[in-house]
Amino acid sequence: MTTVDTIIAGKYPAKSHARRVAESLRPHYQGTTGVIYLEAQKTRLIEDNDEPVPFRQRRPFFYLSGCLLPDASLIYDIGSDKLTLFIPPIDPEDVIWSGLPLSATEALKLYDVDDVLDTTKVNSTLASIASAHGGKAIAFAMADQVSDGTEFSGYAEADFSSLKSSIDQSRVVKDAYEIALLRKANDISAKAHIAAIKASKSATNEREIEGAFISACIANGAREQSYHPIVACGENGATLHYPKNDAELTDPVTKQRKSNVLIDAGGEYRTYCADITRAIPLGGRFAAETRQIYKIVLQMQTECIEMLKEGVQWEDVHALAHRIAIKGLLELGILRGSEDELFAKRISVAFFPHGLGHYLGMDTHDTGGNPNYEDKDSMFKYLRVRGRLPAGSVITVEPGIYFCRFIIEPFVKSPELSKYIDTNVLEKYWSVGGVRIEDNIHVTKDGYENLTTAPKVIEEVESLAL
Ligand code: GLY
Ligand code: MN
Ligand code: MN
Repeated sequence: MTTVDTIIAGKYPAKSHARRVAESLRPHYQGTTGVIYLEAQKTRLIEDNDEPVPFRQRRPFFYLSGCLLPDASLIYDIGSDKLTLFIPPIDPEDVIWSGLPLSATEALKLYDVDDVLDTTKVNSTLASIASAHGGKAIAFAMADQVSDGTEFSGYAEADFSSLKSSIDQSRVVKDAYEIALLRKANDISAKAHIAAIKASKSATNEREIEGAFISACIANGAREQSYHPIVACGENGATLHYPKNDAELTDPVTKQRKSNVLIDAGGEYRTYCADITRAIPLGGRFAAETRQIYKIVLQMQTECIEMLKEGVQWEDVHALAHRIAIKGLLELGILRGSEDELFAKRISVAFFPHGLGHYLGMDTHDTGGNPNYEDKDSMFKYLRVRGRLPAGSVITVEPGIYFCRFIIEPFVKSPELSKYIDTNVLEKYWSVGGVRIEDNIHVTKDGYENLTTAPKVIEEVESLAL
């Protein structure tokens, strides 16, 4: 077994996550003690239908249990350091359809918890913990994730507002087990990206490439996608989260095959996400303009990744990406002026309008980034992470350069800014659409580890696509 498989063959470290969250809650129960109560996602039926809504486990519950069952709950008694998982009792009506559910004995072997009871015991357990702490404990729960009938009587207070932010912050720094899960999601997704590139050779429509990606994920153990794949050929690549994936790869007017496809896709492995973007040539060779843009974006990404280590200011890394974009676009003649003036006027935002990256974990856009979407500075407004990166965080580095008429035209029409863009040169680049290159990076004390192994060197991508 590889190291990753050896690590994830063990138990998900639910207990240490519970302790970490309890530590972060300490200011709210200082001088006394508390319990944490969380519920799994409920089984829900599709409206007017007897089929279940596709199941997605609630992340806070998974973080403190490692359990993927619906309709379960957990209690962590901070004072006695005891984590109890509650699983639904057998419903004989359901066994014929879904098979026997997990037993308490099996669950105890599978999960890093101290006890497993059935969900009918939640209220009596809450009450006995409250009484053991003499009515002084505080109960922490999430306001919108407590079923009717759950009783917090006997507690000094039921705090429904502190737990979410404590869990969100605790999730930023990953442990070795979580890094292994993220690596596994990345390894599977790298195989799927290669399958998608190979499928592009004979594909006639974006959807065939999407199908190849999803098929390879499922075949390799990632049944869920981190998010809907984005497969965007030609100018569709200029739409950051292009949702359609249904365009023909041949232009209906010119009958020419589009020059490139942007694929932003990642598989999810036991709730942990990969988020990877590649731009690939159709026909095995990048068109000249796409290749020029690809080189700039790759340089943006390489230099930004090189900057990463504990404590780096994320805004500085994002600003470096803009400076490299400006230099590259100046060299191509798309931009005019001095690098400093273009930076000060935020002209590169016309071509690189989104943030450099976001935390990654159980959510693709993971918790704890403290964005400021009200920022008046257009360069930083969409940055999903603000501040210094801690060791143990995992962040995406995903610079891009896009030729989106909707975004660029206001710059071109602005009396103040139009002088910075040479529209004659720009004309040649609309067909590039967009190039984004996205990897998932584990920030360490002295540097970083790149978890993403999907190919991105031009020659390697070209030879796979040929
Ligand atoms: N795939 C979504 C993103 O990169 O943020
Ligand atoms: Mn991303
Ligand atoms: Mn992405």
